[in-house]
Amino acid sequence: MARRSRPRVDLARLPAHVGVIMDGNGRWAKARGRERTYGHRVGARAVRRVVRACRRMGVQTLTLFAFSAQNWGRPEDEVRLLMELLYEFIVQEWREIMDRDIRVVHLGELRRVPAEVRDKLRALVQASRHNRSMTLALALSYGGREEIVRAARRLAGRAALGRLRAQAVDEACVGAAMYTRGLPDLDLLIRTGGERRISNFLLWQSAYAELFFTDVLWPDFKVADLRAAIADFQERRRRFGLTDEQLDARRAGRAWS
Ligand code: FPP
Repeated sequence: MARRSRPRVDLARLPAHVGVIMDGNGRWAKARGRERTYGHRVGARAVRRVVRACRRMGVQTLTLFAFSAQNWGRPEDEVRLLMELLYEFIVQEWREIMDRDIRVVHLGELRRVPAEVRDKLRALVQASRHNRSMTLALALSYGGREEIVRAARRLAGRAALGRLRAQAVDEACVGAAMYTRGLPDLDLLIRTGGERRISNFLLWQSAYAELFFTDVLWPDFKVADLRAAIADFQERRRRFGLTDEQLDARRAGRAWS
């Protein structure tokens, strides 16, 4: 199928939660003889396209991996630019986010984030908290392992205070200690830029996610590419550990053994 054709998406069977690892900004810029930061700037336009398209289609939750816990180790000017882009995104998109009834949540550790970005993001999270048409989760200073460690620490703290019994620790309890508390599990994980790995993104939540890898570099990622990923997702059979026969029986409304 040609990349720019319009893949068929069944709007009645959308993934409830789409996550995106937006990779390839640096290579995109280098290929044009430009600084990596230019790639991030153009990548921010792709962010806007994808948020709008998901909202239009009716995707319930979209999580964007904007900056990982490990990205703090990047060159200082690149980190600064990424923080500026996030700030600009919040300021420029604020109106549209509210008009389109989008709830913004943050996943990650805000302590290291510059105060202006932190305050703006907190303000948007607060202002949009009652919006219901879509949730946009910004994973910023986020790491999947860090999130699991934090959850374990919180649960251990409650146990130490006698407020949690070991036997009461189950999946629901651990899930509720994650940043993503209340959000659906990840259904579709898209990674652009040609690498085929998860890179510490939503480790707990992606247990049964369908993975979609594309060589398209993030600044080039268009709505047609998003539709292609969702159309591909809709062709997969998700078994959640069961057999095909069991799923067939379930669909036919019979009990399975
Ligand atoms: C990975 O590409 C991308 C990032 C670390 C940052 C993603 C940020 C944006 C798309 C812009 C700002 C975000 C928002 C939400 C407004 P890379 O630099 O690792 O690319 P490379 O693999 O080609 O080097």
